[in-house]
Amino acid sequence: MSGIPAAPTADLVNGASIPRIGLGTWPMSDAEAEKAVAQAVELGYRLVDTAYAYGNEVGVGRGLRASGVPREELFVTTKLNGEWHGHDAAQEAFAASAERLGVDYVDLYLIHWPLPAQDRYVDAFRGMAELLEDGRVRAIGVSNFKPAQIDRLLAETGVVPDVNQIELDPTLTRDAARACHAAHGILTQSWSPIGQGGDLLENPIVRRIAERYGRAPAQIVLRWHMELGLAAVPKSVNPERMRANIDVFDFELTPEEVAELSSLDRGEAAATDSDLAGH
Ligand SMILES: NC(=O)c1ccc[n+]([C@@H]2O[C@H](COP(=O)([O-])OP(=O)(O)OC[C@H]3O[C@@H](n4cnc5c(N)ncnc54)[C@H](OP(=O)(O)O)[C@@H]3O)[C@@H](O)[C@H]2O)c1
Repeated sequence: MSGIPAAPTADLVNGASIPRIGLGTWPMSDAEAEKAVAQAVELGYRLVDTAYAYGNEVGVGRGLRASGVPREELFVTTKLNGEWHGHDAAQEAFAASAERLGVDYVDLYLIHWPLPAQDRYVDAFRGMAELLEDGRVRAIGVSNFKPAQIDRLLAETGVVPDVNQIELDPTLTRDAARACHAAHGILTQSWSPIGQGGDLLENPIVRRIAERYGRAPAQIVLRWHMELGLAAVPKSVNPERMRANIDVFDFELTPEEVAELSSLDRGEAAATDSDLAGH
């Protein structure tokens, strides 16, 4: 199966640039990730999304090396787990992740969940900001943060996160979060962007638009993310679906189609409550 052109990139507020679509790797084992990542890079993917918590950083690193694509052309995201929220602890956890991945630097390091009951994410972010200054990470950000938590990071550290990776799809449009991110130049990156491959892909509106363009339902949903200016990390271990998921840059949806898809929003209460969930 031949590759397709790499996804376009977006510029991040602290100076890096990020592919708009990358490969999610949860819940892949090391062995699955090694194989899927090498296949994905061959197909044209340049961004791979992992986390300490996924337990597959070693496999992701192996897959990236097996691809033969030079490190500087690849974009690796990993995430800080809750037990290391703290200035020094974040730096130690980062070093361990980089070692498992087998890389000298990470392109994007995210606080995986805010864990407000623990109330240590500000210290963690300070530690990560030093990694950014040192060049050991090219971009820093957060995941599952609410607007008030982002405001607090800005007020207490003066550093703008490059990215907030949140649960987002046409049934969870997350308007308040997106408005907050836009106001600060933070890129919104969608997790579970195709609704975990479930009912969303069977939805009659999605199906009707897919038929109109002769595209797969997942491609219509991913194109919707692109029309909104978002980035996304769909996961697949299947090369045909991997290929389809990144092949969304040669057609556009109309504003009416985007609005129709957005009308599927079930409201903020339907999203995972990131004040209560996480690790
Ligand atoms: N920051 C966070 O807290 C957080 C939380 C959850 C996830 N994530 C990240 O986001 C990534 C994506 O989220 P996700 O894996 O939950 O959901 P997703 O990407 O929305 O959906 C993945 C599911 O859809 C299937 N699929 C993939 N492409 C398809 C296609 N073209 N047509 C039909 N089905 C398709 C996959 O199966 P096959 O593999 O068999 O194709 C898999 O079961 C994760 O892998 C992870 O990297 C981050």
